[in-house]
Amino acid sequence: MKQENMLPLHPVLLVLFLLFLTATAAVDMSNNLIPKVCDNSSRADPNIRYTFCTASLQSAPDSPCAALRHLGTISIRLVKFNATNTRCYIRQLLKNTKLTPYVRQGLNDCDELYSDALSTVRKAAKAYGAKNYADANIHLSSVSDAPLTCEQGFTERKGVKSPLTKRNDQLFQLSAIALSMINMMVH
Ligand SMILES: *[C@@H]1O[C@H](CO)[C@@H](O)[C@H](O)[C@H]1NC(C)=O
Ligand SMILES: *[C@@H]1O[C@H](CO)[C@@H](O)[C@H](O)[C@H]1NC(C)=O
Repeated sequence: MKQENMLPLHPVLLVLFLLFLTATAAVDMSNNLIPKVCDNSSRADPNIRYTFCTASLQSAPDSPCAALRHLGTISIRLVKFNATNTRCYIRQLLKNTKLTPYVRQGLNDCDELYSDALSTVRKAAKAYGAKNYADANIHLSSVSDAPLTCEQGFTERKGVKSPLTKRNDQLFQLSAIALSMINMMVH
């Protein structure tokens, strides 16, 4: 028997298979808009950390295929998800019966702030969907104030640490990212 016949695949098939592998590997699942947008955002607003921005946008399953306008939708959605999760977290914290009145008051205020932020981010999403970028901007600016005000509620008393510092910072950055994307749509 000749050596050739021992091949498990016909040589032509083998070549096709290798071509297929190469083509598959060449599909780039990274969105090259994201680094550009995040570079812009972090330059425009020092509160936005570049790596936070890219990691956040890349975490969305539909971001690899998104054009600029859809990336804006994604970033507003990230604000909504984050705020929803943190409001839930605040409510879990409030179940603790051993909270000091000061911390309980702070958490209650944050619960209200996050609830308002959630209804406001829905308005922002609606305005953005209607290409009403001016209103989307106003609504998201108001959303970005919520985590700042929430955090301030814990800074008035010595020895008290906000249990929400990290989450407030995340929501603030996410809303700043969404804001800068809205501003990119205008220009
Ligand atoms: C980045 O910002 C510059 C101006 O600061 C602007 O000209 C450019 O279009 C922006 N890039 C994107 C991707 O929006
Ligand atoms: C909020 O968003 C940030 C950035 O995408 C993420 O790392 C974090 O896990 C999110 N937090 C919540 C509570 O959803």
